[in-house]
Amino acid sequence: MRAAESSAEVLQRKLQLADLSPEGQRVLVRADLNVPVQNGRVVDDTRIRASLSTLRALLDEGASLIVMSHRGRPKGEPDSTLSMAPVAAVLQEHLGRPVHLLPDCIGEEVEERAAALLPGEVALLENLRFHAGEKANDPEFAASIARLAPLYVDDAFGAAHRAHASIVGVPAAVGTAAAGALLELEVSTLGRVLSDPSAPFVLVLGGAKVSDKLEILENLLPLVDRLIVGGAMSNALLAAQGADVGGSWVEEGSLDPASRVLAAAAESGVAVLLPEDFVVAPSMDRPEEAREVVQVPADAMALDIGPSTRQCFTAALADARTVLWNGPMGVFEIAAFSEGTRAVGNAIAALGPQALTILGGGDTASAAAADGISGRVTHVSTGGGASLDLLSGRLLPGVAALTDRTP
Ligand code: 3PG
Repeated sequence: MRAAESSAEVLQRKLQLADLSPEGQRVLVRADLNVPVQNGRVVDDTRIRASLSTLRALLDEGASLIVMSHRGRPKGEPDSTLSMAPVAAVLQEHLGRPVHLLPDCIGEEVEERAAALLPGEVALLENLRFHAGEKANDPEFAASIARLAPLYVDDAFGAAHRAHASIVGVPAAVGTAAAGALLELEVSTLGRVLSDPSAPFVLVLGGAKVSDKLEILENLLPLVDRLIVGGAMSNALLAAQGADVGGSWVEEGSLDPASRVLAAAAESGVAVLLPEDFVVAPSMDRPEEAREVVQVPADAMALDIGPSTRQCFTAALADARTVLWNGPMGVFEIAAFSEGTRAVGNAIAALGPQALTILGGGDTASAAAADGISGRVTHVSTGGGASLDLLSGRLLPGVAALTDRTP
């Protein structure tokens, strides 16, 4: 539900890093270090790098840090495959100083080791979700963490939509809770899309499900000039228009929401651009049978947008001044179905610095990184669900929980 005040508006009256005097103090920093790990090694350290600015700023000011995060979705109990150990190793490399991984996130030993930290030293708590109290926002669990430091900084934009203990309970218990640099950057940049988008504003959506993007659409359509939809999500919109989508996958129960989106777009005078040709195959694991078609046959499924659609989407982006892109145009991880996502990414990157270009969602960020366009857009968000919630007009719990500046 849309909140009376946006997350960006609320954040403006919250404590920021610059309001703290962390010298000689211990600071609890909630970061989103939920990164992909394979064979015990971090395979994408984007989120770790994104958290460095806040960590370095606090260390430069002479603080000692107790960093905490979740990783994956353990079931409220220790799971060695989801330890923070691989993260500690990468964080240590980036910070150029030891990062001491503590054996847990609460308890006597953790309290003793946190208390012994000297200015400039960094400890990383073990995965917060090894305790059920984290997701349940259990007050006792939150109080145990809050005991570790007198100051709290939230820099975990990717988890700011979760009302979990480390996001809402701990800042309340600590009492002095400020926004970190990444949280501030994400909320203010995404907030610009909601408050002051320059026209033409083109919203590009893709990915699998209409249901995931319904709220963001309802909130943004009144601001948008053109809506481009690709990926499996476009199958639902095409089917709702009465088109034959052949053997393409259409999310169950999506026709109704898709019709609502089309009606709302018509009401707001938004031009809706849907695919007019496709790259199809019998299934995504048979890329060698990929071919371009205008009509998807019954024994094949659309797995990327086709060449005319690429041209049409690219043209619709050419004069954009604000672009928000969330969701790939096809199964971009497989080369045979990656062309559409690449074409859209390049068209957005080509707009240059005079346009506000924002990418959100894990898949979109990965596709952008693979195609080398991440550095050519205004902002690549580190939050998937969090960016959707913010753009849907919800007040993020992680923002609401911070301490108000005293007037
Ligand atoms: C994410 O990866 O989107 C965040 O870290 C939040 O993780 P979650 O969806 O498991 O809460």
